[in-house]
Amino acid sequence: MAHGPITWHEGELPRARRWASLGARGATVWLTGLSGSGKSTIASALERRLVEAGRWAYRLDGDNLRHGLCAGLGFGEADRKENVRRAGEAAVLMADAGMIAIVALISPYRADREAVRAAHERAGLRFLEVWVDTPLDVCESRDPKGLYKKARAGELKGFTGIADPYEAPEDAALRIPGGEMSVDDAVTSCLAIVDG
Ligand code: ADX
Repeated sequence: MAHGPITWHEGELPRARRWASLGARGATVWLTGLSGSGKSTIASALERRLVEAGRWAYRLDGDNLRHGLCAGLGFGEADRKENVRRAGEAAVLMADAGMIAIVALISPYRADREAVRAAHERAGLRFLEVWVDTPLDVCESRDPKGLYKKARAGELKGFTGIADPYEAPEDAALRIPGGEMSVDDAVTSCLAIVDG
């Protein structure tokens, strides 16, 4: 990609030395799935499990990012793409630093997730895509924020799963059957791929 008159400034500390000094191994765990599928709950429990084990992990949750880094973005296709791109670039930086970046975003478009995967590959970083595959009817029955109800009533336009698409991953590192698996078991499955 062309960046005009901007050149990359290499630091003195190669990643391998950074990670060795810190005893860290960075990666991104990317949780994708419908609203209400359990992404945020699993991300939060995974973050806690990692940090309490002395690992450096940090959560980037869609709803939270939209208060800051991604404030002002809506839910049209272009804004979701930008939302995913920003979260993906933030995750690349965190993983490069040696952290486990835990991203929880609907990220409904396959191409946008693949762009994030490609950014990690270019940077030589692990991108672990986790599909929280909870059936729509289960998500809708949970409806923790009452948004499905609003979407069905036509008060909320373009809600994912109702009026907007969700493109399921084709080669996720892990699929979590969110309607059947406990949060604890989901976290254990995530840890297995982080350490794999
Ligand atoms: S994404 O599609 O751009 O990845 P993101 O994960 O950041 O979405 O935000 C999703 C959250 O925004 C949902 O959990 C829900 O609380 C809220 N939301 C508001 N409007 C919509 C909408 N039209 N579609 C999906 N989620 C929405």
